[in-house]
Amino acid sequence: MPRTLVFLALCALTMSATAEAVTAQRQAELRDLVHQDCGSCHGMRLTGGLGPALTPQALQGKNHDFLFSTIRAGRPGTPMPPWQPLLTDQEINWIVNYLKMPEETP
Ligand code: HEC
Repeated sequence: MPRTLVFLALCALTMSATAEAVTAQRQAELRDLVHQDCGSCHGMRLTGGLGPALTPQALQGKNHDFLFSTIRAGRPGTPMPPWQPLLTDQEINWIVNYLKMPEETP
């Protein structure tokens, strides 16, 4: 294989690996976002407000992909906004897992 091709293949690999990872620093930012921004509608403790509760109990049994697309695209016709302009798919995935994780609830 010509050298440039090897180089390009390596670049593609590295880039997809970086896109997968949500760094520890970013996780801390996302945690803040969930409690501040999402919390402004869903309650600071995510127990509900304008929007429904997002506690692990409330989300129990709700499909990951369903919650993912709700966050990604919002719910047209409701105040739930689309977060796609602000968050990557990996970050939205992380948030869904975070919301469902019991020990992370304050
Ligand atoms: C402007 C207010 C507002 C903000 C900000 C907001 N939401 Fe929502 N959210 C809502 C409302 C209202 C609903 C209910 C929509 C409906 O009636 O179906 C909702 C629904 C949801 C649902 C579906 C819950 C279920 O049980 O089906 C999830 C998940 C969700 N929001 C996550 C988030 C996350 C994560 C954030 C922050 C990144 C966020 N929301 C920010 C208002 C908001």
